[in-house]
Amino acid sequence: MTATTPHAAGFGDGTAPSTPAGKAADYLDQRLGIAGAAKKNLRKIFPDHWSFMLGEIALYSFIVLLLSGVFLTLFFTPSMNEVTYNGSYTPLDGIKMSEAYASTVNISFDVRGGLLMRQIHHWAALVFVMAITVHMLRIFFTGAFRKPRELNWLIGFGLFVMALLEGFAGYSLPDDLLSGTGLRIAEGVVLSIPIIGTYVSFFLFGGEFPGHDLVPRLFTIHILLVPGLILALITVHLILVFYQKHTQWAGPGRTNENVVGLPLLPVYIAKAGGFFFLVFGIISLLAGLVSINPIWTYGPYVPNEMTAGSQPDWYIGFLEGSLRMMPNVEFNFIGHTLSLNVLIPALIVPGILFTGLAVYPFIEAWVTGDRREHHILDRPRNVPTRTGIGVAGCTFYGVLWVVGGNDLIATHFHLSLESITWAGRVVVFVGPAFAFWITRRICYGLQRADREKVLHGREAGVIVRSPEGEFSEVHAPISDGDRYRLTAHDVHRPLSIAQAADANGIPAPRLRRAKLRARFTRWYFGTRVEKPSTEEYRESITSGHH
Ligand code: HEM
Repeated sequence: MTATTPHAAGFGDGTAPSTPAGKAADYLDQRLGIAGAAKKNLRKIFPDHWSFMLGEIALYSFIVLLLSGVFLTLFFTPSMNEVTYNGSYTPLDGIKMSEAYASTVNISFDVRGGLLMRQIHHWAALVFVMAITVHMLRIFFTGAFRKPRELNWLIGFGLFVMALLEGFAGYSLPDDLLSGTGLRIAEGVVLSIPIIGTYVSFFLFGGEFPGHDLVPRLFTIHILLVPGLILALITVHLILVFYQKHTQWAGPGRTNENVVGLPLLPVYIAKAGGFFFLVFGIISLLAGLVSINPIWTYGPYVPNEMTAGSQPDWYIGFLEGSLRMMPNVEFNFIGHTLSLNVLIPALIVPGILFTGLAVYPFIEAWVTGDRREHHILDRPRNVPTRTGIGVAGCTFYGVLWVVGGNDLIATHFHLSLESITWAGRVVVFVGPAFAFWITRRICYGLQRADREKVLHGREAGVIVRSPEGEFSEVHAPISDGDRYRLTAHDVHRPLSIAQAADANGIPAPRLRRAKLRARFTRWYFGTRVEKPSTEEYRESITSGHH
């Protein structure tokens, strides 16, 4: 009789692995000793909610970008050298163009599968930035950025900026009439920077616009520098999500100290794998069916030409709108032109918007004085001021974005371009203020509706008539789980104003700052909808209103 030798960790019953995957895992474990770490980490629990898939869409579309991008680099020529086109697309036959443009047309018409790859790459970029943006909004509106995740918010913000930069660089590579127009605008923006603008422009473009240097430089930025940074940041971002654990929605059994969900292996990995192919499939379907950036219809870039109705990719639209909306304000200051008409809309406005976004978690923590760790997400209605600020920000961005298409709106709806621009100038200020006010009111209204639901149950939609002839709606009781979810949140109170001096007449330190902060918290938490107290709840049960 022979004795069996116990095998490596990971095979609890001590038998040798028989499947190829098991053998491979055993081989690796004997050399790297990974079974212990893998066992611990692969059983890690992740909470489940549809909104947690937004970050995943960003991740998977980035993978699609990398795969399709590698294919494109094999055929794209990042050169501004002039060539005469004589490929299969006959309308461009004999036309002089840069090698960059000619190689992009060749990818579209002469490389097998090239057009599909270009379209997959472009659609994946649009989905990527959209997914990042919506993911960021979900983090914002649910307060997932609060301690201890502020640093991950900043890393995410870095990713957002990198994604915009990466998109713009890629979009500019083919040197077609549309992308060249975008670069011309970028040059104007750089030139508007006081004192150093001209120098920076010459530095970036390697001399006068457009020059021969920019496309090769953008190519290196687009295929190496920014993707490398994005990859590194995504790695740190996900390590932090793993290490700090994922936030979860309030519910019975879910606390700030635990995570309720499904294990990474096998459930989450199987779901994630399937979801990757779903994202890939939808992007491929879009790419196969919907034309995107048909550069052969625009023609090669010629600095003195421009097509009517030209539009950038969606994520640059807000900058376009900001520029189109700005009145013409230009000064001459000791012999230097100060182009506020470009500086303000293209650099100062986005600068304020983006800085506000990056530092919001720190501002909120300061104003509310809340330094606790939070692992349970907020329902947006329960933090009306934050939700109001978020909706105001989106409205501001949205107005800029819409005005970015003022010419198309004018031609499609037979409106005057001037009127649209003027309407935009007014709405860009009034809209966010109104959005903030109405959103807060809606949030308070929803909180009151929740309170009613806890006390009197949900409206059943059944109307009954009493013997006295009175009509009333029947209320059905809600489940314990729902009652818990509707009352799990904190009702925050404003910080009290610091006393000017203590009992001995010693002035309080940093009094002015404390007063300012107290004023902000009053604004932030001033109006509150109290949760039903135990007495109110008991009373509602005994009075039969429940
Ligand atoms: C390339 C871009 C990005 C990728 C691939 C990415 C990916 C992910 C993934 C997969 C998760 C876990 C699932 C989820 O909560 O959705 C996550 C969580 C998170 N992300 Fe991102 N993200 C990106 C950009 C951003 C941005 C722009 C922000 C904010 C400015 C951000 C902030 C966060 C935070 C704070 C968490 C933790 C959320 C929690 O635990 O609830 N991320 N990210």
